[in-house]
Amino acid sequence: MEVCSELGQIARANARRCGLRNITVIEGDVLSLDLRTVMPRADVVIMEMLDTGLIAEQQSQAMSHLHEQEIIRAGTRIIPSRMDSYIELVNYDFDFYGLDMRFPLHARNYGANKRVTQILTTRKRFESVDFSRPVDERVRTSVTVSVHRAGLANAVRLKSKIMLSPTVALWGTSDMCVPAIVPIRERRLAAGQRARLSISYSRGRGLQQVQVSLRDADGTKPAMAGESHRA
Ligand SMILES: C[S@@+](CC[C@H](N)C(=O)[O-])C[C@H]1O[C@@H](n2cnc3c(N)ncnc32)[C@H](O)[C@@H]1O
Repeated sequence: MEVCSELGQIARANARRCGLRNITVIEGDVLSLDLRTVMPRADVVIMEMLDTGLIAEQQSQAMSHLHEQEIIRAGTRIIPSRMDSYIELVNYDFDFYGLDMRFPLHARNYGANKRVTQILTTRKRFESVDFSRPVDERVRTSVTVSVHRAGLANAVRLKSKIMLSPTVALWGTSDMCVPAIVPIRERRLAAGQRARLSISYSRGRGLQQVQVSLRDADGTKPAMAGESHRA
């Protein structure tokens, strides 16, 4: 299935060129098409409308639509079958050409990743999406991370891992599920502290709406001194 008709035509031409005659490309929006008219059920669903945490792309909505239409049933093999997403506190260099450009961004290339100047905490899983069931579109959760290195936290880095099979996992590549950097209100952290991170967003709506807040996990003060209001 392909929503962009130019890409659909290219896919058809590629299949023809490769001598693959058992491929039908359906042009249309997987979110709204009534697929039951073209296939009663699917034995295998392979879908790559993926990005870290399913924040920007619409795999969750598309998979839920296939569940609603009962195209996915017991026994349907789904690739990837699961996505686990992780969060860690970092210091990120938001200085671009002398300008403080503090906004959520996809660390799409290696240059963007090099701007992580310090990783301050353990990386913690904040959710696990199982595509064999309809996916909840609202994410609102909290996790506790341990600070293993003192420093100034000004962002979180989000990463996702997908399961291609029960034994084959794939972390982000340079193009798929690239890490996402979300600025937070700056806090100076000491090694040994525990921090509570809350994250909320609606899937498929883009990085700008992601909310992340940080507080002391133990509720004692002044576990996190040095807060500033730059972000
Ligand atoms: C990330 S790309 C997948 C690229 C593919 N795996 C490849 O290596 O060429 C996602 C594809 O899904 C298509 N797409 C996005 N939303 C769609 C929708 N609602 N219905 C059908 N296709 C959609 C996009 O046009 C794009 O071709």
